[in-house]
Amino acid sequence: MNIKQVEDYEAMSIAGAQLIMETVKRLENPVLGLATGSTPEGVYKQLIDAYQRQQVSFRETTTFNLDEYVGLAGEDPNSYRYFMDDKFFDHIDINKQQTFVPNGKADDLQQECEQYEQRLKDHQEIDLQVLGIGVNGHIGFNEPGTSFKTRTHVVNLAPSTREANARFFNSMQEVPEQAITMGIATIMKSEKIVLLVSGEKKARALDQLLHGDVTEEFPASILQTHDNVQIIADKAALSKVRV
Ligand code: F6R
Repeated sequence: MNIKQVEDYEAMSIAGAQLIMETVKRLENPVLGLATGSTPEGVYKQLIDAYQRQQVSFRETTTFNLDEYVGLAGEDPNSYRYFMDDKFFDHIDINKQQTFVPNGKADDLQQECEQYEQRLKDHQEIDLQVLGIGVNGHIGFNEPGTSFKTRTHVVNLAPSTREANARFFNSMQEVPEQAITMGIATIMKSEKIVLLVSGEKKARALDQLLHGDVTEEFPASILQTHDNVQIIADKAALSKVRV
């Protein structure tokens, strides 16, 4: 894993956006894996700016999001489909038909997971996957204890993850209990992975990722075994990293 240390959240966002733009410009039909959450928001802002300055076009880009809450429709402001449209897709020239987010309202969730995997295969997998990390080491919604062999699947969200995400909902009761997520094996098939980490809150997780064992108890640790991972972390996130 290659680590790029940057000053702060903004510098992380600029560096992340640059990496994405390089990929989008280099490939004829780029396939991006995208994340939601607070961490990549700044990256999407940078990319929108670059698009508006005509530095990049997403016309030929396909995207696959990592995850979606079960039970929330795309029009629900708390759904990840809504997040992506609102924070990114609605402001660039991407073909919305080429932006894939798992359907949390599918009648048959199992079938939805299988179709998502098939669609990824049809696109020859992901060229660049953007990841954030949970304080418990989750990637996507793959919580501690998830098998490294998983493909896209339905998960029960850990109480700590529901609590961490409750800030977006009116009450804890409204936070969904399940989600669909790309599996760890799905994520690991990506050609390249960029992990964005910002803030002291993530410092212990980053230290464990860099120095801990590879174990299903800390899902992100699998990234140690991928041969093309770029970590972009700010000073606060690196503040507890043992040297
Ligand atoms: C989001 C996702 C999650 C987040 C993680 C960190 O699509 O899959 O794994 O990346 O929970 O979230 P933030 O960035 O809000 O700290």
